Amino acid sequence: MDIKNVLFAFAGVSMAVVFGILSYNGANPEWHDYQRPYYKMLAQKMNDPALANAPLKIEQVWLPTVNNRADRCMTCHKGIGNPLFKDAPQPYTTHPDFFDEEGKPTGYILRHPFEKFGCTVCHEGEGQALSVEATHGDVHHLDRELLTGVFAQSSCSKCHQNLYSRNASLPEAPTLMAGKELFRTKGCGACHTARQMRTKGTAGPELSGFGSKTELSFYLVHIFEHVEGDHTKLQWEWEHFKDPGKITPGTIMPNFRLTDEEADQLTTLVSSFKDETKESIPMKFLSSYPFDAEVVAVRD
Ligand code: HEC
Ligand code: HEC
Ligand code: HEC
Ligand code: HEC
Repeated sequence: MDIKNVLFAFAGVSMAVVFGILSYNGANPEWHDYQRPYYKMLAQKMNDPALANAPLKIEQVWLPTVNNRADRCMTCHKGIGNPLFKDAPQPYTTHPDFFDEEGKPTGYILRHPFEKFGCTVCHEGEGQALSVEATHGDVHHLDRELLTGVFAQSSCSKCHQNLYSRNASLPEAPTLMAGKELFRTKGCGACHTARQMRTKGTAGPELSGFGSKTELSFYLVHIFEHVEGDHTKLQWEWEHFKDPGKITPGTIMPNFRLTDEEADQLTTLVSSFKDETKESIPMKFLSSYPFDAEVVAVRD
């Protein structure tokens, strides 16, 4: 056979393969693999086999009012607002603090309906993405990493700005509140200015807008050489709390011998120090809860 023909045939086959893959991916995007099992489970739970074949579609919450993002997280997290999915595996599990034992919505999540608030206002991450890799995989964002577990509590301060005043407490965010307490008892304010805590120390960097820094802006001015875990802002902070001198050799910040839990608490706290101009949450989404009789001007 002529070598040209072989090449031609080969090119033809490769094209066919490429087109095949493209159309397969188009017809079978990753999120389908998460939605189909959801409807199967739903059909079982509702005892209605027809539900298993419900049409698959992208779920999107468009939030021009909260943070100008479109969240599609619910495309995979289908059971997030359904008490029947309390014991289902991720990504189908019902949101924590939403329903009581009987499945009645009682928790504070009720006050932040997903259709209005979406997810990324509390969890950050890439709201547009439709793959696990891009939402919470190894792909790191130059903007904001997804917040999981207790770290999501660092977002409450975007709207509940009174929570820092001395008499106020947001008990629904216990890790954040414990961090606030630690900041006082450890005397962090002696070295750090934090508008929220009304401290004016100057030996260390100002922390007032620390929680609004993007991954990229953080990455450019911090040394990650000694960080053992993921190279993300949160991980840097956490390891720095555990051993400041290891992460920033020669720093004067003392090693407070914090437990892992205390490091979680302080990481959540410093990440909660937001620069309101960068968050730009509209007034109607701000809350005066927790109400503080002393009414402290946090923004002075
Ligand atoms: C393509 C499907 C998909 C999309 C889109 C998606 N998730 Fe997930 N999510 C998953 C899967 C699967 C898991 C469980 C496995 C894992 O942690 O990777 C999960 C787990 C989670 C967890 C728990 C992680 C943990 O460590 O316990 C959180 C929180 C979460 N997702 C939030 C979000 C948010 C917020 C968005 C939108 C920005 C989002 N997800 C978009 C599929 C998805
Ligand atoms: C009002 C803020 C808020 C909103 C809005 C919100 N979450 Fe959460 N979410 C949290 C907090 C806080 C936690 C962690 C609770 C804890 O463990 O302390 C959490 C926990 C979770 C978990 C359990 C795993 C984990 O990381 O602890 C998943 C999954 C999750 N959220 C997904 C979502 C998705 C998907 C949406 C949008 C449909 C959403 N959340 C909207 C605050 C929020
Ligand atoms: C985007 C803004 C926003 C974020 C972020 C947010 N909240 Fe809220 N929250 C509100 C608004 C608005 C209300 C309802 C109006 C009100 O009660 O002032 C509310 C109500 C509440 C309530 C009920 C208050 C009452 O009057 O009983 C609790 C509790 C609460 N939020 C806790 C939290 C926690 C915990 C977080 C973080 C995990 C959080 N919120 C994050 C805006 C927000
Ligand atoms: C003796 C002064 C001192 C004390 C006390 C102190 N720090 Fe620091 N802190 C520093 C200095 C100096 C740096 C900058 C060098 C470094 O990275 O360690 C720093 C860095 C930080 C950073 C990283 C800030 C950035 O932009 O890189 C955070 C967050 C932080 N401190 C929080 C705290 C908290 C919370 C406490 C209380 C538990 C505390 N610090 C106590 C001096 C101090």
